[in-house]
Amino acid sequence: MDQATIIAAVDQTISSRHSVRAFLDTPVEPETIKEILRVASRAPSGTNTQPWKVYVVTGTKRDELVQRVCQAQMEIYQNPALAEQYKETFSYYPQQWFSPYIDRRRENGWGLYGLLNIQKGEKEKMARQQMRNFQLFDAPVGLFFTVHKDLGIGSKMDISMMMQNVMIAAKARGLDTCPQAAWNHFHSIVLDVIGAPAEEELVCGMALGYADPEHIVNTFITPRVPVEEFTIFVDE
Ligand SMILES: Cc1cc2nc3c(=O)[nH]c(=O)nc-3n(C[C@H](O)[C@H](O)[C@H](O)COP(=O)(O)O)c2cc1C
Repeated sequence: MDQATIIAAVDQTISSRHSVRAFLDTPVEPETIKEILRVASRAPSGTNTQPWKVYVVTGTKRDELVQRVCQAQMEIYQNPALAEQYKETFSYYPQQWFSPYIDRRRENGWGLYGLLNIQKGEKEKMARQQMRNFQLFDAPVGLFFTVHKDLGIGSKMDISMMMQNVMIAAKARGLDTCPQAAWNHFHSIVLDVIGAPAEEELVCGMALGYADPEHIVNTFITPRVPVEEFTIFVDE
């Protein structure tokens, strides 16, 4: 393959990946999932520690997980105090938001809600959309990434790189994904259902499957800050 073709294929695959939030129920071949994970495991990791573990959850286990976490989330909606029982093991987001991050976050949230015709104050509709996370957006496959909890913060960097590889390798095969930190609140249920040993920590979930081409939510394409705004060429 010539260089121009390689560049075009890589750039196209990276650029066309986006978070998909509505999937078809078409199953994904286990061999395809293995192939994706095999290539994704070429990700770099500090001193080649390869700290990732991946649980591929399908079939009745997937349904059990969806059922149990949806139930827990429903109970929280009815009694918000219960959220105390479902805390993340690490903070993905800051306690106190600030600009420009809060602005981008709001733009993202309202952009998605706008597309789904959810207006400010429509709490029930928002809750229903939030709940879609715990239905894996109907994807037939849930991937759950864990690390040993005694490893350092760097292992979460390693696993993030591996996750990006998974998303790109999936995209190249006509599959789509949505990384989902939302599951982290429910790590106790997730780890129980997937049968992970006590020393493992859930880092992230991910929906994997074939995108529903008809669903409006999948037309949501997020903006990016121009390179000039986030890059500093340091010279002399
Ligand atoms: C680590 C991580 C966790 C995320 N968790 C969620 C999630 O729980 N639910 C969700 O709908 N999207 C989630 N997202 C998707 C982001 O909202 C999305 O990546 C961002 O808005 C940019 O859009 P794009 O992925 O379509 O390019 C997550 C993304 C990352 C990187």
